Amino acid sequence: MAGALGLHVITTQLPIAFISATKQTFRRASVIRCAANPPNKRYTIAVLPGDGVGNEVIPVAVDALRLAGSLEGLDLRFEELPIGGAALELVGVPLPEETLRKAKQSDAVLLGAVGWHVLIIVYLPKWDNSPKHLKPITALLQLRAGLEVFSNLRPITVFPQLVDSTYLRKDTAEGVDIMIIRELTGGIYNAHPRGFTTNEQGDEVGFCTESYSASEVDHIARVAFDIAKQRRSKLCSVDKATILEGSMLWRKRVTAMGLEYPEVEVSHLLIDTAAMDLVRYPRQFDTILTGVMFGDIISDLAAMIPGSVGLLPSAALGDSGPGIFEPVHGSAPKHYGKDTVNPLAAVLSAAMLFRYGLKEENAAQRIEKAVSDVLDRGFRTRDILTPGTTLVGCKRMGEEILRSLDARVSVSNGSLV
Ligand code: IPM
Ligand code: MN
Repeated sequence: MAGALGLHVITTQLPIAFISATKQTFRRASVIRCAANPPNKRYTIAVLPGDGVGNEVIPVAVDALRLAGSLEGLDLRFEELPIGGAALELVGVPLPEETLRKAKQSDAVLLGAVGWHVLIIVYLPKWDNSPKHLKPITALLQLRAGLEVFSNLRPITVFPQLVDSTYLRKDTAEGVDIMIIRELTGGIYNAHPRGFTTNEQGDEVGFCTESYSASEVDHIARVAFDIAKQRRSKLCSVDKATILEGSMLWRKRVTAMGLEYPEVEVSHLLIDTAAMDLVRYPRQFDTILTGVMFGDIISDLAAMIPGSVGLLPSAALGDSGPGIFEPVHGSAPKHYGKDTVNPLAAVLSAAMLFRYGLKEENAAQRIEKAVSDVLDRGFRTRDILTPGTTLVGCKRMGEEILRSLDARVSVSNGSLV
């Protein structure tokens, strides 16, 4: 796991937290390898912990990947690379060329979060006044564009063990299992034209034009139909076709593609109705297809059905090349350094990495079963704590995941032996 980061550690000031997370990954990973069966398939994973709690949850996900992989005879090589505020600190740009190059060469990218930069124990919104190209968040958009990952999969699943964590009524949340497919590299996020100007009245104007082309809609709709077909064959496309031209075309193309998938039941909802229905009766949804901005909003809204954004994994996929696998929660600087955050979103992102990134379904299921087992054994981080369960921190949750993956793993004095 040396890579770019290892070289830079010597010459530049790396946030202390980042160094310790890196060391921790080394130590625990080398121990886990002992429990492995002889490996036969090799993959390289680019690991980009990024900022804030990314540095806490990613080591947990790396451990889970390595152990589940080794149990399936996979040899995973991890290459840690800087991104976001951590990269700005190291080399002055949020997405160093080397990070993008090595991410492109990898088999999959495991990303923590980009956002505010963390300085030891004081959390500073350090880059807020920087120009756009020097903000940590820009790295995420550049990485998505660079890897051409146009489809964003955000599953919303209510685990039976966690039904009490919901913000909705328990009987509303029970059994919810939704896959949100969000277009990721077009639409209003990638707008042309966009910018700032002054109108004839001398009034300052900011503008950003949403547009979707037929081929862009077809591209993402095909992904959604194919995924819906493997699920419960119900696809709900979400737009604002009463008002927005991009949405009108979106609806027309999705309707047309529906003819190619007679087995998939297609419906269309306006974004406002969809938001309401996600809260009122979420079980009606199976697969949801939507654009970049509506998808951003409704995936956070839907996160409150399971009850914590700390449970939400995601995958960003292209037609070929490595995908990006990332917990949805972001860098959460206020929670950083306390060992309280929930690593399950990152661990479930690791399962998605196996499933969609490496096509290693058995390893994916091992991780998902381990998560379920840990919950059965009553372990909960603070965000999902309910009466009668056991409160644990991020690291301990990670250790329990490893135990659930392989009973031979043991822990003494907080270290794996
Ligand atoms: C997300 C985030 C990003 C997005 C931001 C950080 C650019 O909110 O992944 O949901 O809107 O895509
Ligand atoms: Mn978001």
